[in-house]
Amino acid sequence: MNLFEVYSILDIEPVCGKGCFIYDGAGREYLDLYGGHAVISIGHCHPLYIERLQEQLNKIGFYSNSVIIPQQQLLAQRLGSMSGYDDYRLFLCNSGAEANENAIKLASFHNGRKKILSFKSSFHGRTNGTLAVTDNPNICAPVNSREYVQFLPLNDSEAVHDALCEGDICAVIIEGIQGLAGIYCPEVPFLQALRKMCDRHGTILILDEIQSGYGRSGKFFAHQYADIRPDIITTAKGMGNGFPMAGVLIHPRFEARIGMLGTTFGGNHLACAAAIAVLDVMQQEKLTENALHVGNYLKEKLASIPQIREIRGQGLMIGLDFGQPVAPLRNRLIKEHRILTGTSSDKNVIRLLPALCLEQKHADLFLQNLKTVLSD
Ligand SMILES: Cc1ncc(COP(=O)(O)O)c(C=O)c1O
Repeated sequence: MNLFEVYSILDIEPVCGKGCFIYDGAGREYLDLYGGHAVISIGHCHPLYIERLQEQLNKIGFYSNSVIIPQQQLLAQRLGSMSGYDDYRLFLCNSGAEANENAIKLASFHNGRKKILSFKSSFHGRTNGTLAVTDNPNICAPVNSREYVQFLPLNDSEAVHDALCEGDICAVIIEGIQGLAGIYCPEVPFLQALRKMCDRHGTILILDEIQSGYGRSGKFFAHQYADIRPDIITTAKGMGNGFPMAGVLIHPRFEARIGMLGTTFGGNHLACAAAIAVLDVMQQEKLTENALHVGNYLKEKLASIPQIREIRGQGLMIGLDFGQPVAPLRNRLIKEHRILTGTSSDKNVIRLLPALCLEQKHADLFLQNLKTVLSD
């Protein structure tokens, strides 16, 4: 059997990783500024992460949500206190799309409505429900119905106001920072207005922090720059540092009912061990603070490179807009300097999504090599 080929892949075969670096079979070292789609949060092969996973695997790796799994409660407590959402409740699942599916379903269960507002250029996943709220018709099949979804321009409070006034909108879903679109931050006054408008109309505010959460922005969740509290927050990617793991943080106002949501794999022993290890390392090594510090350093230095038209983002979620296609630049960074960066759906934008343990010396290595390529 052959693979069903749906990915455009780089000509690299990593066989091991350490911190912010990956290595191929010939021992060549690559600086990883992409973290496999923003997944690597605490760095590749962190010793504590390995130890905890091995320890758990030697006891029990998996059992389904039909038994007591104390690690789930421990994870909920650690996540609640580190994120500032102690009073929310946690539903565990396996991927970002699954978290958003559950968030949308919860919103609809709660207020009995079915219309959703989403934003232009948004990305919320590739399952049927999440594709319906994703603004990219190219990846939607005819079956991915969008009849209940309206896409509005980001940061346009008036458009949101008009749509909410029109009728019974179930939920608004918005990324903490738009990632795949090319790194666009919702403005603070916009998020604050959104919160107020949702309250006024009984509409549920869902913050998709799947890419922008878990310390990446320099706050635990990116929306915390706006000092708002969403009704539902979704998280995945960095949560398990590569172990498939996702969560839905749910306001205490939502009533849980047995059988309302469910998953076979979500919140299993091994996944919880991975997620608790991630939080422990984030706390011990002050990785959120580091993301802010090194991210600001990078942005400040990048600002002096004339070829970059715009620099966007927060912390270690950075978009570099060159105003022209970046594919040749990105390829040269990989081939000639062994530096891995990310693309976005905007062909002019390079996305930087490194592990949160990136150090200033790694940022300098990137800056130096980027300048070399740009000077040719
Ligand atoms: C903002 C956002 N939401 C949802 C998803 C979907 O997550 P997953 O690929 O884990 O289903 C992604 C993935 O890139 C994302 O960036």
